[in-house]
Amino acid sequence: NFPDNGFVKWKAPSNIALVKYWGKKPVQIPANPSVSFTLDTCATTTSIAFTKKDEQEAFSFDLLFEGKPREDFKPKIQTFFERVEKYLPFLKEYHFQIETSNSFPHSSGIASSASGMAALSMCLMDIEKQLNPEMDDTLFYTKASFLARLGSGSACRSVKGDLVQWGAHENIPNSSDEFGVPYPFEVHEVFKSYCDTILLVHKGEKQVSSTVGHNLMHGHPYAETRFQQAFDNLDALKPILAKGDLEGFIKIVESEALTLHAMMMTSMPYFILMKPNTLEIINKIWEYREETKVPVCFTLDAGANVHVLYPLNHKEEVQKFIDQKLAQYCENGQYINDQVGKGAVEI
Ligand code: PMV
Repeated sequence: NFPDNGFVKWKAPSNIALVKYWGKKPVQIPANPSVSFTLDTCATTTSIAFTKKDEQEAFSFDLLFEGKPREDFKPKIQTFFERVEKYLPFLKEYHFQIETSNSFPHSSGIASSASGMAALSMCLMDIEKQLNPEMDDTLFYTKASFLARLGSGSACRSVKGDLVQWGAHENIPNSSDEFGVPYPFEVHEVFKSYCDTILLVHKGEKQVSSTVGHNLMHGHPYAETRFQQAFDNLDALKPILAKGDLEGFIKIVESEALTLHAMMMTSMPYFILMKPNTLEIINKIWEYREETKVPVCFTLDAGANVHVLYPLNHKEEVQKFIDQKLAQYCENGQYINDQVGKGAVEI
């Protein structure tokens, strides 16, 4: 009763972690729990046209990235298909024509793998749902997050909004190492419309991939302390998120960003993903916050770009500050205005 062909199309956003995931066990099991803001503007749109094929020995797919064939991206999808085949038995029954495009520069430290793997997983779950129409929404999104995790860990936090938690934690009900869940505790309104302006400090490819970085947490001298800190920070965030405590929020979020990069600087081999302009920006944010008391802070991903986080009611003044003081440290003055979003949508 499989259809002979069909078409699905989904858009999935990126996300920015407040408590960071850094370090993993096989297969894509996080060494510590994390929580993120789902973003909105930074997203990947993916469509799949699927056609029944005769031969069912191997996967068969074509890939167009931003309108052009990209052979170099195919191994990543091949590996992903191999990993998820046992959960999606139809994968060898069809040929897939995959078309995908990002709203932001690829491999810029903005988690393109997160939105990309989330969008692909949503498309595959959509096909799965066409084959099993009785599937309910909770199972649909949970399984999509489970599949996305197998593509790229942090991708499991990109299928839903607005805050998503991933990784088993004894004090967080329904938390799991295998998929992300909507943050289950009270969240103050201020965080539901939080702004994230992403300053593009360095748009080139990173020298060290996050896969290599995660692996360097094995045998890292500070690993256990760091993992415990992430568990503790999730506990500490609970009343902060409920009350809208911006001072508490800033302390945890900035400390998490710097700790992530401290782990990179203290691994063996060691490496630095920040650039001089990353530090210039951080210092300018601290000066501005001290002078104006505007609750603006920064966070970082595994890259040189800076995410500037602030409440929506401060948007106008922070925007002015960014244009006057921070844009000069960005490549070609470029930044992306984003905000907390609601997760993946069918197009
Ligand atoms: O999902 P990965 O394997 O690309 O790892 C991303 C890890 C960080 O972005 C640095 C932190 C996080 O929790 O998103």
